[in-house]
Amino acid sequence: MKILITGGLGYIGSHTAIQFINAGHEILIVDNLSNSKLDVYKSIKSITKTDFSFEELDLCETKALISVFSSFLPDAVIHFAGLKAVGESVEDPIKYYDNNVGGSISLLKAMEHSGCHKILFSSSATVYGVPEYLPFDEQHRLDPINPYGQSKLMTELVLKDWAKSKETNQAIILRYFNPVGAHKSGFIGEDPLGVPNNLMPFISQVASGRLEELKVFGSDYDTRDGTGERDYIHVEDLSRAHLLSLNNINKIDSIDYFNVGTGSGYTVLECIKAYEKESGKNIKYTLAARRDGDVSISYASANKIKEFCDWSPEFDLEAMCKDSWNWECKTSI
Ligand code: NAD
Ligand code: WQD
Repeated sequence: MKILITGGLGYIGSHTAIQFINAGHEILIVDNLSNSKLDVYKSIKSITKTDFSFEELDLCETKALISVFSSFLPDAVIHFAGLKAVGESVEDPIKYYDNNVGGSISLLKAMEHSGCHKILFSSSATVYGVPEYLPFDEQHRLDPINPYGQSKLMTELVLKDWAKSKETNQAIILRYFNPVGAHKSGFIGEDPLGVPNNLMPFISQVASGRLEELKVFGSDYDTRDGTGERDYIHVEDLSRAHLLSLNNINKIDSIDYFNVGTGSGYTVLECIKAYEKESGKNIKYTLAARRDGDVSISYASANKIKEFCDWSPEFDLEAMCKDSWNWECKTSI
């Protein structure tokens, strides 16, 4: 198939691009490089030994996007492009609604123009908000507690109406939990601009000495050791879930929703211990106050996606830390 990947030079998009190229699909990546580097384009080509097209373009430039669609004529779109920093979304909600919701609407217009009717959308477990029960399943109430999560939910609602408006339209919504790790080659991985917000990249930069020490946000949660618990999933497992989902898209009627997580959680201190074991480094940390907006525990029920396309995670926390460290060693030189 011909697949247009928005945000394909980003963390999850680049790993997914490799999965699709290796599976024999022809891809085109559209990315405005607002949170990624052109080097990733070269890395994907060298890892896969395959050339493919890249367009540096903002999804909100609808006219230019329509002409990219008209010449490539994709069979399907995988839509990663979006801003994802929760804290920033609280400070600047309009930027998030404009980019994430407006960009998605612009994308759907371009799809309509070129007769493309299939889309996979990167949603997030943040659409659930504070857990009423755990593990989160797809029927859990949707009640995001920040503008970033709202922007994801709004886009899900737009996609629901788009999918139902035409017989031929199909949308798969993948709600990711906490992606971590890197491609086994160590040539691509999570490369946040500035000081990382997320736990794993912060730990990796303490391990390599790029950062001094980790602040553990909260040690009085109702978890095994008092620190926050999350469902970490290897980015390679996550990217494979996209390939298997798209392969099975004709099984769905118009739209369907799937959690993509491992079904189990790890605490911050357990992540630190696993990282120390895989890196051989001591991770310096201090116990600090809780971070606003954090929930104590979040992990997925992934039974639905297993049923849908026979996907299940293959990598454990050790592998996530090992691959993250391999990437950190290659980039922090
Ligand atoms: P990322 O920032 O690494 O990748 C996003 C890519 O989209 C970047 O390359 C960026 O340059 C591009 N982009 C952003 N806005 C654009 C626009 N208007 N036009 C064109 N390109 C644009 O993020 P990621 O971690 O790879 O996440 C990919 C998607 O998955 C995002 O939508 C994110 O919200 C979602 N998601 C991520 C996580 C996570 O923890 N990483 C969890 C759940 C959901
Ligand atoms: C994980 C745990 C922190 C940093 C976020 C977004 C979510 C999604 C995934 C986009 C928590 C603790 C963290 C640190 C710490 N992104 N922590 N010290 O908050 O579960 O989810 O990323 O969709 O939308 O909210 O991930 O990695 O920030 O935090 O103690 O320096 O690590 O309190 O318990 P989170 P995270």
